[in-house]
Amino acid sequence: MTGRSARPKATMNETIPQLSSYDETSLDAAFATLGAEVRDETSTPHDAEAFRLRWLGRKQGRLKLVSDAWLKSAPAEARKPLGMRFNQLKQQIEAALAGATATPLASAKKAGIDITLPGAVRASGIQHPLLKTMNEIVAVFHHLGYSTALGPQVESDFYNFEALNFPPNHPARDTQDTLVVAGQQSRPSRDRLLMRTHTSPVQIRTMVAQAAPVRIVVPGKVHRNDAADATHSPVFHQVEGLCVDTNITFSDLKGTLDHAMKALFGSGVKTRFFPSFFPFTEPSADVQISCIFCAGKGCRKCKQSGWIELLGCGMVDPAVFASVDQQREAQGLPRAYGTAKISGFAFGMGVERIAMIQHGISDIGHFYSGDMRFLEQFA
Ligand code: PHE
Repeated sequence: MTGRSARPKATMNETIPQLSSYDETSLDAAFATLGAEVRDETSTPHDAEAFRLRWLGRKQGRLKLVSDAWLKSAPAEARKPLGMRFNQLKQQIEAALAGATATPLASAKKAGIDITLPGAVRASGIQHPLLKTMNEIVAVFHHLGYSTALGPQVESDFYNFEALNFPPNHPARDTQDTLVVAGQQSRPSRDRLLMRTHTSPVQIRTMVAQAAPVRIVVPGKVHRNDAADATHSPVFHQVEGLCVDTNITFSDLKGTLDHAMKALFGSGVKTRFFPSFFPFTEPSADVQISCIFCAGKGCRKCKQSGWIELLGCGMVDPAVFASVDQQREAQGLPRAYGTAKISGFAFGMGVERIAMIQHGISDIGHFYSGDMRFLEQFA
């Protein structure tokens, strides 16, 4: 018989040296030689199939020969140490083989994949344009030291209306405008549940829970029984703001909102405040910004006025503070708002309206349609 032939060609007449002894040291040495051979053969480019045949061939593979020459004739007490080392060698061979065949190219070929075709690109998700605008607004106020407060969408009549100084027959309480939860007739009117029509109830919830100073922004969904059209949706989003501290004035309100509008629409926009009415602020104002489409010259978007109405605001009405203190007392908390020094302002803006102006979107329905052609423009 000849000795081992030159590698890497597989030969079928391999010989396996005789084991001199079955002690641990001899076994270790014998298997180390075989392990080194495996490493040697696979450390350079090689033919994986020839390697497989040479080591794992069923009749003449080296592993089979090792088994025949060493394992079969071994005395009973040497079987275990021999078998352990044999299995390790086998694992080493199989691992080497798996490494050789698992190249990306080889596995692709095996799976019948044409790697020259262009890949399928999975689009990564983006923030919905509404959420993006909402987060932008919130971030402007976070930078001014405000924190975020949240409240429930299913709200009680008390928080949504009564505590905010809505008189009993105020039209906003009308079921024409408010979506009410069914089956509440047996409850006292202040406990009846409804879908909140604005984020202002969170003003009350926050002040009842926490003494002044308060600086919060409240992003969230609101609901109104409005027919959907190009500018209305029965479900939409608002960001509310509330700032209460000692000696807060209307000029603080003006300065804060002027800054916020410039941060959102660019430093060139101007703001103006028009007298308005909300039951929970006094005085109240509507804030307008100079039209960002025509820079105030007058165009279709601003109905030739040069101004766009954007949000409601005002100084917190003393009746609201009184109602909050009453609630606090009922809960065993000290009064904290109805003092001469405490004052504050609040504001509320529609997220859809701001996003529509930011992006020149003329139909609110696009936000909810899920149409990828629309959404992809914000990627
Ligand atoms: N809640 C009012 C609305 O939905 C907006 C507003 C908030 C006005 C805060 C003044 C102060 O119309």
